[in-house]
Amino acid sequence: MTIPPINQIDHRIKIWLLIVSLGALAALAAAALREEFGSEWRHYQRQYTDILAAKATDEQGRSLLKAHEIKLRQIVVPELGVTDRCVSCHLGIDDPRMAAVSNPFKVHPGEYLRVHPVERFGCTICHRGQGAAVVFAEAKAEDYHWDYPLLPIELTQSSCGLCHTPPEVDGAGGDRLASGARLFEIKGCYSCHKLAGRGGSMGLALDREGLKVKGQMPMANVAGPHTVPEWLMEHFADPQKIVAGSQMRNPGLSYDETRALTTYVLSLQERDLPRSYISPALNALLAERNNPSELSGEQLYNRFCSNCHDRGTYGRFDKAYNKFMPAIRGASLVAYADSIFLAANIRSGRPGTMMPGWGIGAGGLSEAEIGRIISYLKSAPLPTDVPIREMPASLDFSHGNPLQGGHTFARLCVGCHGPGGIGNYAPALSNKIFQTTADSAFIYRTIAYGRIDAAMPAFRNPGRGGLSDAQIVDLVAYVRSLGARGTPRTAVASTGNPTGHKP
Ligand code: HEC
Ligand code: HEC
Ligand code: HEC
Ligand code: HEC
Ligand code: HEC
Ligand code: HEC
Repeated sequence: MTIPPINQIDHRIKIWLLIVSLGALAALAAAALREEFGSEWRHYQRQYTDILAAKATDEQGRSLLKAHEIKLRQIVVPELGVTDRCVSCHLGIDDPRMAAVSNPFKVHPGEYLRVHPVERFGCTICHRGQGAAVVFAEAKAEDYHWDYPLLPIELTQSSCGLCHTPPEVDGAGGDRLASGARLFEIKGCYSCHKLAGRGGSMGLALDREGLKVKGQMPMANVAGPHTVPEWLMEHFADPQKIVAGSQMRNPGLSYDETRALTTYVLSLQERDLPRSYISPALNALLAERNNPSELSGEQLYNRFCSNCHDRGTYGRFDKAYNKFMPAIRGASLVAYADSIFLAANIRSGRPGTMMPGWGIGAGGLSEAEIGRIISYLKSAPLPTDVPIREMPASLDFSHGNPLQGGHTFARLCVGCHGPGGIGNYAPALSNKIFQTTADSAFIYRTIAYGRIDAAMPAFRNPGRGGLSDAQIVDLVAYVRSLGARGTPRTAVASTGNPTGHKP
């Protein structure tokens, strides 16, 4: 083995050292050059100098050109947690002369920046995106680890809802938000979702839905960009496509309506912004939450019940749920059921079925509101030509034979009500709330005379192939036995008798 002389090693190291340091210097110089001449924002600022020069035709134009410097610009609004460098590229945002140029130089559309001065609001409070970024892809932040990427332009009105009520900005730059809020009401979203503690329970509460981030949503079936706004758009267009087997009914919206509803749902954030930024109308609305405004029985019905019960005046077979939805404003139910029954069923719902509870601890409705809903249910006109109130005086329910009744039930009723009355296409008769609220007379009348305008047939037709009173009494005994054996009726009336209807 030969060892090279020591002076030769020294020489080789020197050459390598030279090569490495020259390489490092070159890399540094390239980075500096890229920052100086290649960086996106400088590139746009230089382009903007040319635009300003072309428009410098008067005194004002010349002074704007003269004042233009190539430098990083940023807006800091500590109260809103905003540090936005968007204006490093969006240089003409407040210059009305920049209407015909293309982005990022274009003047801002509408009155938005006139009523919301840039120094006080910045950009990301309305647009989202990564404020501190100086590269557009990072500002947009769709493919970066950033919770709230730039909103698509057509959903940007969702932000108005952080500080304003939807009706307040209707016709003032927030039309899409306002129409989304109306759709939420009309389409019965409250039937299954709560806002401010009021609503059904099949779906989640949506108070902070606008703050969801993409990791919280199943993105596998989303065709467009994997963002929360896109998830919502595609979910509203077809819930079952995005969430296999979703119980959420397709709301049947046009493309425009889908965007409006998404805009509104994105606005639901409950952000804790300084009071000085929140409009008086929104402040009032937030304060009113503990003391909800007086909605009429009809308004309450439309908001909370109509998605499932529809108009309520006829029984409806719901294909999506493979079930008859009870006609809760139907002539028969309204005639047979007293207010105790109705109030208790509305307050507690029918646990284990789709019918949610609506009382204070469940759906958030007050007893007074439940009373107004009952008045509304009973306001449907009753046909007079049907003897639905007739009730043979001689019936003795204590002598019904549940065994006999069970045979009849298996023959005539199981197909709709399920074995043991567990519920099938028709309501569950073994349900605890039904059992503790329905009295025997109510059950008798329902079986004897059926429900007009609903799928429940009338079975009383003695001597002509129908059931006799004795057979119906046996059936009542059987139905009674389905709960906790002979459960007595325990429900009590709430606020007196809100409807004036005599039980
Ligand atoms: C590095 C320069 C740069 C920065 C920084 C930047 N933008 Fe832009 N922005 C652009 C360019 C370029 C376009 C035009 C892109 C296009 O048309 O594809 C644009 C377009 C937009 C659009 C219109 C998008 C559309 O769909 O029409 C919005 C809104 C926008 N920017 C908002 C912002 C906000 C908010 C910020 C700060 C968080 C920001 N930009 C930061 C360069 C920038
Ligand atoms: C008060 C809320 C609000 C603020 C603050 C705001 N914008 Fe907008 N901006 C909007 C809305 C809403 C739209 C969509 C307008 C429409 O639908 O016509 C929009 C549209 C835009 C567009 C698209 C223009 C076009 O027609 O292509 C750009 C770019 C933009 N904003 C940039 C900014 C920048 C940069 C800032 C900060 C300097 C900013 N915005 C601040 C609400 C806001
Ligand atoms: C961060 C809170 C905030 C956001 C987001 C916001 N605004 Fe405002 N808005 C205000 C405040 C505060 C004022 C009152 C401005 C002032 O102090 O002069 C205002 C004023 C207005 C006005 C003028 C009202 C009047 O009586 O003159 C309109 C219209 C308006 N906003 C519409 C919108 C629309 C549309 C959006 C959504 C694109 C929006 N705002 C987003 C806080 C906000
Ligand atoms: C019949 C009950 C029902 C109705 C009516 C209903 N939803 Fe849903 N919704 C659900 C159920 C169940 C889910 C959970 C399954 C899913 O994500 O599809 C859900 C999921 C959602 C989600 C996703 C929540 C999340 O973060 O995962 C949103 C947002 C939503 N619904 C909004 C609405 C809106 C807006 C309406 C009114 C057009 C509406 N829903 C009507 C039952 C309903
Ligand atoms: C064709 C299907 C069908 C058959 C058969 C049927 N029912 Fe019904 N039943 C219904 C429907 C649907 C309702 C809910 C009616 C409504 O829409 O208001 C109902 C309601 C009832 C109710 C009241 C339940 C409540 O929640 O208020 C009782 C009790 C009842 N049926 C008993 C019977 C008995 C006993 C038989 C057999 C003799 C029977 N039903 C046969 C469909 C049926
Ligand atoms: C998510 C769907 C859904 C919503 C929303 C809903 N219901 Fe129901 N409701 C049902 C179903 C399903 C039944 C039948 C229960 C069963 O299958 O056993 C029912 C049963 C009832 C009954 C008993 C009817 C009978 O035949 O005895 C009453 C009363 C009732 N609902 C009132 C209401 C009221 C009032 C509201 C609004 C505050 C409401 N429901 C909202 C699905 C719903």
